[in-house]
Amino acid sequence: MYQVPKLTDFSPAALDKAVTELTSALEQECAKACSEPEWKALRDRWMARKNGILTQVNDLWLKAAPAEAKREVGRRVNELRAHVENDVVAAQERMAGRSGSDRLAAERVDITLPGITRPIGARHPVLQALDDVVKVFKSMGYSVEEGPEVETDYYNFEALNFPPNHPARDTQDTIFLAGQDKKPARDRLLLRTHTSPVQIRSMQKYPPPVRVVCPGKVHRHDTPDASHSPLFHQVEGLAVDTNITFCDLKGTLDHAMKALFGSSVKTRFYPSFFPFTEPSADVQISCPFCGGKGCRTCKQSGWIELLGCGMVDPNVFDFVRDNGYDPGKISGFAFGMGADRVAMLRYGIDDIQLLFQGDVRFLEQFA
Ligand code: PHE
Repeated sequence: MYQVPKLTDFSPAALDKAVTELTSALEQECAKACSEPEWKALRDRWMARKNGILTQVNDLWLKAAPAEAKREVGRRVNELRAHVENDVVAAQERMAGRSGSDRLAAERVDITLPGITRPIGARHPVLQALDDVVKVFKSMGYSVEEGPEVETDYYNFEALNFPPNHPARDTQDTIFLAGQDKKPARDRLLLRTHTSPVQIRSMQKYPPPVRVVCPGKVHRHDTPDASHSPLFHQVEGLAVDTNITFCDLKGTLDHAMKALFGSSVKTRFYPSFFPFTEPSADVQISCPFCGGKGCRTCKQSGWIELLGCGMVDPNVFDFVRDNGYDPGKISGFAFGMGADRVAMLRYGIDDIQLLFQGDVRFLEQFA
C-alpha cells in the first residue's frame, strides 16, 4: 500500500518521481473501488482532512520544503489536489454507472464471440396438414372461416339437429364447462366436439351461396391411446347453392383426396349417420401405403377411414332460414375430416400422442 514518503531532495527530478509514484498509486486504487463502502474508504484515505494522503503531502512535502523550493512544490501539490479530487469523483461515477464512457466500456460488445443462434421454428405437422387441406379447397373456390373452441350447446348440438336428450349426443363424448346449471340448456358452454358448429355460424353470416372450410381444434372426453386424444383437429367443409347434389360431394372429396394423397388413391363412400346430414356417408381412401393390398397401417383391409360427410339436413337449414336458406330452394353438402389422421398418414406416424408431446426430437423431423 502506498505511503507518502518524507522528502529530503526537492530538486525537480526528485519531485517528478514522487508525483509519478503518487499518481500511479492513485490510479490503481481508484480502479479497484467497486462498491460504495470501498469507494468511501478510498475517498477518506486520499482526501480526509485529518491524515488523508493530500494532508500528508501538504505536511511532508510543502511544509517541509526549503524556502527556495516552496513555489515549485506548492504548484505541484495544487495540481495533485485537483488530480486526486478528479479521480476519486470519477471512481464514484464509474461505480454508480453514471459515467457515459465508463458505461460504454462495460457494455462493449466483443464481436469475436460466437453469436447467439436463434433456431428458426417450423410448422407443426398437424398445422402443415391443416394448411394443405385448406389449400386444396381454396383452389376450388372455398374460403376459410373459424369459430370459437368454447361453444354453446346451441351451435354444437341443437342447431345441428341434435335434439335435447337425443342419444346421438352421447357419441360425442362432450367436455362441458362446470357451474352452468342455471343457464338455459342451449346457452351452456362446452368445448366443441367437432368443427360443424362453424357451418351454422357461417350460414348466419353469409346468405347462400357459400363455400367454406373451417379448420380448428376440437375436444372429446377420450382416454388417450395411439389413435385417440382428448384434443384433436378437424377441417369442416360446407357448400350450399341451388342444385348441389351428392355427385358434387363425391366429386369434390374424390378430387381432394387425390390432391392430398396422390392421384392413384381411390375413395369409397358407404352409408353412415349424422343428425345434421341426410343421407350421410363415411369416406374411406385406398391405403396410400400398400395401394389397397393390405398392410399394417390399414389393418390388412386396404382401406382407411378419413372423413364423415353428407347432404345438409333440411332441419339444419331451418335454423338459418331467415338468412336465405330455404330448404325448398337450396341444397348443400358438408364434410368433416380429421387433420391429425391426415398428418399421421402423410408422414407415417403411428401414435397420435407424438403429435402433442412437444418433443423437439420428433418435431424437428418435419422442419
Ligand atoms: N362433425 C362430424 C364428426 O365430427 C363429421 C361430419 C362433418 C359429418 C360434416 C358430416 C358432415 O364426426
